[in-house]
Amino acid sequence: LVTSWVSALFICLLLSLSQSSSFMQLDGENQCLKAAQDCGLYEKCGSLRSEYVLACTKRVPGSNRCNQHKCHRALRRFLERVPEEYSLSVLFCPCTNTLCGERRRKTIVPSCSYQEMEGLQPNCLHQQSFCRRDDLCRSRLADFLSNCQPSLLTTSGCLKDSAGLCLRAYAGLIGTIMTPNYISNSSADVSLWCNCEGSGNQWQDCLRLQRMFTHNTCLRKYTLYTGHTLSFDDVFVCIVSDGRINT
Ligand SMILES: *[C@@H]1O[C@H](CO)[C@@H](O)[C@H](O)[C@H]1NC(C)=O
Repeated sequence: LVTSWVSALFICLLLSLSQSSSFMQLDGENQCLKAAQDCGLYEKCGSLRSEYVLACTKRVPGSNRCNQHKCHRALRRFLERVPEEYSLSVLFCPCTNTLCGERRRKTIVPSCSYQEMEGLQPNCLHQQSFCRRDDLCRSRLADFLSNCQPSLLTTSGCLKDSAGLCLRAYAGLIGTIMTPNYISNSSADVSLWCNCEGSGNQWQDCLRLQRMFTHNTCLRKYTLYTGHTLSFDDVFVCIVSDGRINT
Protein backbone atom coordinates (compact mmCIF):
# COMPACT_ATOMS: atom_id res chain seq x y z
CA LEU A 1 0.00 0.00 0.00
CA VAL A 2 2.84 2.35 0.90
CA THR A 3 4.52 1.69 -2.43
CA SER A 4 1.36 2.41 -4.40
CA TRP A 5 0.86 5.62 -2.48
CA VAL A 6 4.36 6.78 -3.18
CA SER A 7 4.15 6.03 -6.89
CA ALA A 8 0.74 7.66 -7.21
CA LEU A 9 2.04 10.78 -5.55
CA PHE A 10 5.12 10.74 -7.73
CA ILE A 11 3.09 10.60 -10.93
CA CYS A 12 0.95 13.36 -9.60
CA LEU A 13 3.81 15.71 -8.87
CA LEU A 14 5.51 14.90 -12.13
CA LEU A 15 2.45 15.88 -14.11
CA SER A 16 1.84 19.06 -12.20
CA LEU A 17 5.45 20.12 -12.59
CA SER A 18 5.46 19.53 -16.32
CA GLN A 19 2.19 21.40 -16.64
CA SER A 20 3.15 24.42 -14.63
CA SER A 21 6.50 24.81 -16.33
CA SER A 22 6.06 24.14 -20.02
CA PHE A 23 2.65 22.56 -20.70
CA MET A 24 4.55 20.20 -22.94
CA GLN A 25 2.74 17.05 -21.96
CA LEU A 26 -0.89 17.88 -22.37
CA ASP A 27 -1.29 21.23 -24.03
CA GLY A 28 -2.53 20.99 -27.58
CA GLU A 29 -3.27 17.33 -27.15
CA ASN A 30 -6.89 16.49 -26.61
CA GLN A 31 -6.69 13.72 -24.02
CA CYS A 32 -10.43 13.13 -24.14
CA LEU A 33 -10.32 12.67 -27.88
CA LYS A 34 -7.43 10.27 -27.41
CA ALA A 35 -9.31 8.31 -24.73
CA ALA A 36 -12.32 8.06 -27.05
CA GLN A 37 -10.12 6.85 -29.90
CA ASP A 38 -8.49 4.25 -27.64
CA CYS A 39 -11.97 3.07 -26.65
CA GLY A 40 -12.99 2.81 -30.29
CA LEU A 41 -9.98 0.63 -31.06
CA TYR A 42 -11.01 -1.88 -28.41
CA GLU A 43 -14.03 -3.68 -29.76
CA LYS A 44 -15.96 -4.16 -26.54
CA CYS A 45 -15.51 -0.52 -25.52
CA GLY A 46 -16.30 0.84 -28.98
CA SER A 47 -19.44 -1.19 -29.46
CA LEU A 48 -20.87 -0.59 -25.98
CA ARG A 49 -20.13 3.12 -26.39
CA SER A 50 -21.93 3.19 -29.74
CA GLU A 51 -24.86 1.46 -28.06
CA TYR A 52 -25.24 4.09 -25.37
CA VAL A 53 -24.67 6.99 -27.74
CA LEU A 54 -27.43 5.61 -29.94
CA ALA A 55 -29.74 4.95 -26.99
CA CYS A 56 -29.11 8.45 -25.65
CA THR A 57 -29.58 10.33 -28.92
CA LYS A 58 -32.49 8.44 -30.45
CA ARG A 59 -35.77 10.38 -30.29
CA VAL A 60 -38.89 8.72 -28.99
CA PRO A 61 -41.18 8.57 -32.08
CA GLY A 62 -43.57 11.49 -32.20
CA SER A 63 -41.62 13.61 -29.73
CA ASN A 64 -38.35 15.44 -29.52
CA ARG A 65 -37.29 13.69 -26.32
CA CYS A 66 -34.95 10.82 -25.81
CA ASN A 67 -35.78 7.76 -23.73
CA GLN A 68 -33.82 8.50 -20.57
CA HIS A 69 -34.48 5.01 -19.13
CA LYS A 70 -32.91 3.31 -22.12
CA CYS A 71 -30.06 5.81 -22.16
CA HIS A 72 -29.30 5.17 -18.49
CA ARG A 73 -29.49 1.41 -18.92
CA ALA A 74 -27.06 1.54 -21.85
CA LEU A 75 -24.67 3.76 -19.88
CA ARG A 76 -24.72 1.32 -16.97
CA ARG A 77 -23.99 -1.57 -19.32
CA PHE A 78 -21.03 0.35 -20.72
CA LEU A 79 -19.64 1.11 -17.26
CA GLU A 80 -20.24 -2.38 -15.92
CA ARG A 81 -18.79 -4.29 -18.85
CA VAL A 82 -15.93 -2.19 -20.20
CA PRO A 83 -12.61 -2.51 -18.32
CA GLU A 84 -11.98 0.51 -16.09
CA GLU A 85 -8.80 1.27 -17.93
CA TYR A 86 -11.00 2.42 -20.82
CA SER A 87 -14.15 3.59 -19.10
CA LEU A 88 -12.43 5.68 -16.43
CA SER A 89 -10.16 7.19 -19.09
CA VAL A 90 -13.07 8.55 -21.09
CA LEU A 91 -14.85 9.79 -17.96
CA PHE A 92 -11.89 11.43 -16.27
CA CYS A 93 -9.57 12.47 -19.08
CA PRO A 94 -7.42 15.50 -18.16
CA CYS A 95 -7.93 18.68 -20.17
CA THR A 96 -6.08 21.92 -20.69
CA ASN A 97 -8.44 23.53 -23.19
CA THR A 98 -12.18 23.98 -23.67
CA LEU A 99 -12.43 21.79 -26.76
CA CYS A 100 -11.23 18.87 -24.68
CA GLY A 101 -13.40 19.99 -21.77
CA GLU A 102 -16.47 20.10 -23.97
CA ARG A 103 -15.83 16.59 -25.21
CA ARG A 104 -15.40 15.41 -21.62
CA ARG A 105 -18.62 17.10 -20.53
CA LYS A 106 -20.47 15.49 -23.43
CA THR A 107 -19.05 11.99 -22.89
CA ILE A 108 -22.21 10.70 -21.24
CA VAL A 109 -24.56 12.53 -23.67
CA PRO A 110 -25.74 14.88 -20.91
CA SER A 111 -28.66 16.28 -22.90
CA CYS A 112 -30.34 12.92 -22.31
CA SER A 113 -28.60 11.24 -19.37
CA TYR A 114 -28.11 14.26 -17.13
CA GLN A 115 -30.54 17.10 -17.83
CA GLU A 116 -34.26 16.83 -17.64
CA MET A 117 -35.80 17.45 -21.03
CA GLU A 118 -38.00 20.22 -19.64
CA GLY A 119 -34.89 22.02 -18.52
CA LEU A 120 -36.15 22.43 -14.97
CA GLN A 121 -33.88 21.20 -12.21
CA PRO A 122 -35.54 19.14 -9.50
CA ASN A 123 -34.78 19.63 -5.83
CA CYS A 124 -31.80 17.45 -4.79
CA LEU A 125 -33.68 15.89 -1.86
CA HIS A 126 -36.59 14.98 -4.13
CA GLN A 127 -34.11 13.42 -6.51
CA GLN A 128 -32.59 11.53 -3.60
CA SER A 129 -35.93 10.20 -2.39
CA PHE A 130 -36.76 9.00 -5.92
CA CYS A 131 -33.38 7.34 -6.00
CA ARG A 132 -33.99 5.58 -2.69
CA ARG A 133 -37.13 3.94 -4.05
CA ASP A 134 -35.00 2.12 -6.60
CA ASP A 135 -32.78 -0.72 -5.34
CA LEU A 136 -29.94 -0.07 -7.74
CA CYS A 137 -29.90 3.68 -7.30
CA ARG A 138 -30.18 3.37 -3.53
CA SER A 139 -27.16 1.09 -3.28
CA ARG A 140 -25.09 3.13 -5.75
CA LEU A 141 -25.83 6.31 -3.82
CA ALA A 142 -24.97 4.61 -0.52
CA ASP A 143 -21.63 3.52 -2.05
CA PHE A 144 -20.92 7.04 -3.18
CA LEU A 145 -21.83 8.65 0.13
CA SER A 146 -19.68 6.15 2.00
CA ASN A 147 -16.68 5.88 -0.34
CA CYS A 148 -16.46 9.59 -1.15
CA GLN A 149 -16.99 10.78 2.42
CA PRO A 150 -14.50 13.61 2.87
CA SER A 151 -12.22 13.87 5.86
CA LEU A 152 -9.75 16.48 6.96
CA LEU A 153 -7.92 13.90 9.03
CA THR A 154 -6.65 11.59 6.30
CA THR A 155 -3.95 12.52 3.83
CA SER A 156 -6.12 11.49 0.87
CA GLY A 157 -8.98 13.75 1.91
CA CYS A 158 -11.22 10.68 2.01
CA LEU A 159 -12.47 9.07 5.19
CA LYS A 160 -11.80 5.64 3.65
CA ASP A 161 -8.43 6.88 2.46
CA SER A 162 -8.82 5.62 -1.11
CA ALA A 163 -9.50 7.87 -4.05
CA GLY A 164 -9.87 4.85 -6.33
CA LEU A 165 -12.89 3.67 -4.35
CA CYS A 166 -14.44 7.12 -4.55
CA LEU A 167 -13.84 7.40 -8.27
CA ARG A 168 -15.52 4.05 -8.95
CA ALA A 169 -18.44 4.96 -6.73
CA TYR A 170 -18.84 8.24 -8.60
CA ALA A 171 -18.87 6.35 -11.92
CA GLY A 172 -21.44 3.97 -10.40
CA LEU A 173 -23.95 6.80 -10.17
CA ILE A 174 -23.81 7.42 -13.91
CA GLY A 175 -26.89 5.82 -15.42
CA THR A 176 -29.05 6.34 -12.33
CA ILE A 177 -31.43 9.24 -11.81
CA MET A 178 -28.67 10.77 -9.69
CA THR A 179 -26.26 10.95 -12.62
CA PRO A 180 -23.58 13.59 -11.97
CA ASN A 181 -21.65 15.37 -14.70
CA TYR A 182 -19.21 18.15 -15.50
CA ILE A 183 -20.94 21.50 -15.51
CA SER A 184 -18.52 23.44 -17.69
CA ASN A 185 -16.24 23.16 -20.71
CA SER A 186 -13.45 24.96 -18.91
CA SER A 187 -13.16 23.22 -15.56
CA ALA A 188 -13.60 19.77 -14.11
CA ASP A 189 -16.25 20.90 -11.63
CA VAL A 190 -19.02 18.35 -11.29
CA SER A 191 -22.55 18.51 -9.97
CA LEU A 192 -25.84 16.69 -9.84
CA TRP A 193 -28.64 18.08 -12.02
CA CYS A 194 -30.60 19.53 -9.12
CA ASN A 195 -30.76 22.48 -6.75
CA CYS A 196 -31.86 23.22 -3.21
CA GLU A 197 -34.71 25.63 -3.91
CA GLY A 198 -37.80 24.87 -1.87
CA SER A 199 -36.02 22.65 0.63
CA GLY A 200 -37.61 24.45 3.58
CA ASN A 201 -36.22 23.34 6.90
CA GLN A 202 -34.23 20.59 5.15
CA TRP A 203 -32.10 23.15 3.38
CA GLN A 204 -28.94 22.17 5.26
CA ASP A 205 -29.46 18.50 4.38
CA CYS A 206 -29.94 19.45 0.77
CA LEU A 207 -26.77 21.57 0.70
CA ARG A 208 -24.81 18.75 2.31
CA LEU A 209 -25.89 16.36 -0.43
CA GLN A 210 -25.19 18.87 -3.20
CA ARG A 211 -21.76 19.68 -1.78
CA MET A 212 -20.75 16.01 -1.81
CA PHE A 213 -20.35 16.67 -5.53
CA THR A 214 -19.44 20.34 -5.76
CA HIS A 215 -17.17 20.84 -2.73
CA ASN A 216 -15.70 17.49 -1.80
CA THR A 217 -12.10 17.22 -0.61
CA CYS A 218 -12.20 13.48 -1.26
CA LEU A 219 -13.01 14.01 -4.95
CA ARG A 220 -10.42 16.77 -4.99
CA LYS A 221 -7.73 14.81 -3.20
CA TYR A 222 -4.02 15.50 -3.69
CA THR A 223 -4.52 19.24 -3.91
CA LEU A 224 -3.43 19.28 -0.30
CA TYR A 225 -0.06 17.73 -1.07
CA THR A 226 1.59 20.33 -3.17
CA GLY A 227 2.85 23.80 -2.50
CA HIS A 228 0.68 25.37 -5.18
CA THR A 229 -2.93 24.88 -6.10
CA LEU A 230 -3.43 22.29 -8.77
CA SER A 231 -6.30 22.35 -11.17
CA PHE A 232 -8.99 19.75 -10.70
CA ASP A 233 -7.70 18.13 -13.87
CA ASP A 234 -4.39 17.29 -12.24
CA VAL A 235 -6.29 15.78 -9.38
CA PHE A 236 -8.14 13.43 -11.66
CA VAL A 237 -4.93 12.42 -13.38
CA CYS A 238 -3.60 11.42 -10.01
CA ILE A 239 -6.73 9.57 -9.02
CA VAL A 240 -6.81 7.58 -12.23
CA SER A 241 -3.15 6.71 -11.76
CA ASP A 242 -3.89 5.70 -8.21
CA GLY A 243 -6.75 3.45 -9.34
CA ARG A 244 -4.59 1.74 -11.91
CA ILE A 245 -1.76 1.13 -9.54
CA ASN A 246 -4.04 -0.42 -6.97
CA THR A 247 -5.59 -2.87 -9.40
C1 LIG B 1 -19.53 24.44 -24.25
O1 LIG B 1 -19.12 24.89 -25.52
C2 LIG B 1 -20.14 24.85 -26.53
C3 LIG B 1 -19.52 25.22 -27.86
O2 LIG B 1 -18.77 26.39 -27.77
C4 LIG B 1 -21.29 25.75 -26.13
O3 LIG B 1 -22.32 25.70 -27.11
C5 LIG B 1 -21.83 25.30 -24.79
O4 LIG B 1 -22.84 26.19 -24.34
C6 LIG B 1 -20.71 25.25 -23.75
N1 LIG B 1 -21.29 24.64 -22.56
C7 LIG B 1 -20.96 25.00 -21.31
C8 LIG B 1 -21.70 24.33 -20.21
O5 LIG B 1 -20.12 25.85 -21.04
